[in-house]
Amino acid sequence: MQLRKTMCLAAMCLALCACVAVARKSGPKWPDAPAGAIVAVTDLAPAPKVYSKGKGRAYLILPKGGPYTSFVEMTGEMANVTMSHVHWSNASAGNPPRLGIFPSLTSGAPVLLSPPFHFKGSVSFTRAFNSTDLGYWAPGGVDAFVALLKSGALFVNVHTVANPGGELQGALECKSPCMWT
Ligand SMILES: *[C@@H]1O[C@H](CO)[C@@H](O)[C@H](O)[C@H]1NC(C)=O
Ligand SMILES: *[C@@H]1O[C@H](CO)[C@@H](O)[C@H](O)[C@H]1NC(C)=O
Ligand SMILES: *[C@@H]1O[C@H](CO)[C@@H](O)[C@H](O)[C@H]1NC(C)=O
Repeated sequence: MQLRKTMCLAAMCLALCACVAVARKSGPKWPDAPAGAIVAVTDLAPAPKVYSKGKGRAYLILPKGGPYTSFVEMTGEMANVTMSHVHWSNASAGNPPRLGIFPSLTSGAPVLLSPPFHFKGSVSFTRAFNSTDLGYWAPGGVDAFVALLKSGALFVNVHTVANPGGELQGALECKSPCMWT
């Protein structure tokens, strides 16, 4: 009886390990998107050396010609959330924003939500963006943005009062071939 239990556990463990391996191999969970759209996703986790009870997920959907969509969802618990952007991962340039996610902006200057918000559970923001929104931060329009996306140089950042440099972060992974088809 005891042996059977042990064997059963071992079999379950093997099955579980196999599942985990398969899940890893199949990569990220891509959002539903129109055929031929460029899609990028990331899991959001506490930034290096930052403690947070929050985590999340974000994605971008860019159908050819637009309209483009940004989505960020945070789960767990966070205090004093102020803003979120897609940033260019370039330390010598100061990792500058390349797209505002929230709040809505009308220029290339970061704006803090006032007041900031707290949540427990989950909260999400879905927003349309276009070449005007991209143009606030850098020249080159959507083509330059997609080039950065394709090279793995963009990440999503969620800022809070306690962690103004970023509390949650995640590198965007663009779905292959990362071009309009
Ligand atoms: C990063 O930014 C610096 C300063 O703006 C620039 O000289 C450099 O070319 C950038 N790196 C890449 C990989 O584009
Ligand atoms: C982008 O969207 C804004 C509204 O959010 C609109 O005012 C603007 O004209 C749009 N720009 C382009 C190039 O479509
Ligand atoms: C959030 O902001 C309020 C008001 O500014 C402050 O009293 C509180 O300590 C902050 N909490 C955290 C966790 O940053």
